[in-house]
Amino acid sequence: MAKMRVAQVSRPKGPFEIVEREIPAPRAGSVRVKVQACGVCHSDVLTKEGGMPGIQYPRVPGHEVIGLVDAVGPGVSGWTPGERVGVGWHGGHCGHCDNCRRGDFFACQTATQITGITSDGGYADYMIAPAEALARVPEGLSGVEAAPLMCAGLTTFNALRNSGARAGDLVAILGIGGLGHLGVQFAVKMGFKTVAIARGKDKEPLARQLGAWHYIDSQTQDPAAELTKLGGAKVVLATVTNGEAMSATIGGLGVGGTLMILGAPPSLTVSPYPLISGKRSIRGWYSGTSIDSQDTLSFSVLAGVRSMNEVFPLERVSEAYDRMMSGKARFRVVLTTGQ
Ligand SMILES: NC(=O)c1ccc[n+]([C@@H]2O[C@H](COP(=O)([O-])OP(=O)(O)OC[C@H]3O[C@@H](n4cnc5c(N)ncnc54)[C@H](OP(=O)(O)O)[C@@H]3O)[C@@H](O)[C@H]2O)c1
Ligand SMILES: [Zn+2]
Repeated sequence: MAKMRVAQVSRPKGPFEIVEREIPAPRAGSVRVKVQACGVCHSDVLTKEGGMPGIQYPRVPGHEVIGLVDAVGPGVSGWTPGERVGVGWHGGHCGHCDNCRRGDFFACQTATQITGITSDGGYADYMIAPAEALARVPEGLSGVEAAPLMCAGLTTFNALRNSGARAGDLVAILGIGGLGHLGVQFAVKMGFKTVAIARGKDKEPLARQLGAWHYIDSQTQDPAAELTKLGGAKVVLATVTNGEAMSATIGGLGVGGTLMILGAPPSLTVSPYPLISGKRSIRGWYSGTSIDSQDTLSFSVLAGVRSMNEVFPLERVSEAYDRMMSGKARFRVVLTTGQ
């Protein structure tokens, strides 16, 4: 039986282990993907460090996967070996529970598969994915370019297009990391007056290079006061991992403005007064389904949105993960298998 490499975690807070496993056969309704590239998302801490109930170890993280359909399981139609596909956080759905029948496939009540969390993900040479979790990858994007669009790109694109902001509105992207640097580009290309907010001066030239109209250094400036001077934000897209940084922007929302929460800090404390007095709201957003991923990939090709990446081979997974966690990566770390 042919073997493959996977980078697995055997217990919460345990190290990455590169181990050999048999290349799995696709189950009914699933395909086997020959992985080319996989982004390293901050959400991979959930698998690496533990923090989400129900994760069974050993587990292979990775939910920004690009590869080729390698084999098709029984009952799968519409996908053929050799096609280039992407797999994101949404790892499939049943299609017949109440949420699926409402079209909210991400909230499927019966299929609880989350790529890299409850099923093995893309830190590997091969992975298995349900057919409904696959996105088609357009020409014009390499595997390394496309991988970060499967979560960092999808999440920011999908949140922005569902945020209620219209062309010309003031939209702030809070945090310029993996998600944020793509959020800035999408906001600019969607026609928003785009403000980037990050810690320190060093990210300002990069934020401006990505198209930001204005930059706020949250270490030396008060983001709420600065946004208010600019007229108040219609939307603040919060991609940071820190709750205080999020709540510090609420006073900078315009009347009726929305703080869209994408980042997952351990807690968030909010004063009700600015929400009540200005009819402001706080809303969360999850990434999206495979068709949202396809939309993200197509828009990125159309509008020239690209992730800035640091590339590591799969065997250097520990270094790649530490680089992501250090906050020094500019801006997405991507693993490659050499396939
Ligand atoms: N909602 C979803 O579906 C979804 C999808 C993917 C990821 N996420 C979550 O989104 C967050 C960002 O992910 P990522 O992959 O973009 O991470 P990342 O590349 O590591 O970036 C982390 C960001 O957090 C900010 N940050 C870190 N420590 C901070 C602190 N002490 N105070 C203020 N800001 C701080 C950094 O801000 P600076 O730019 O100022 O350095 C940076 O922009 C994570 O919590 C991740 O789990 C959610
Ligand atoms: Zn992610």
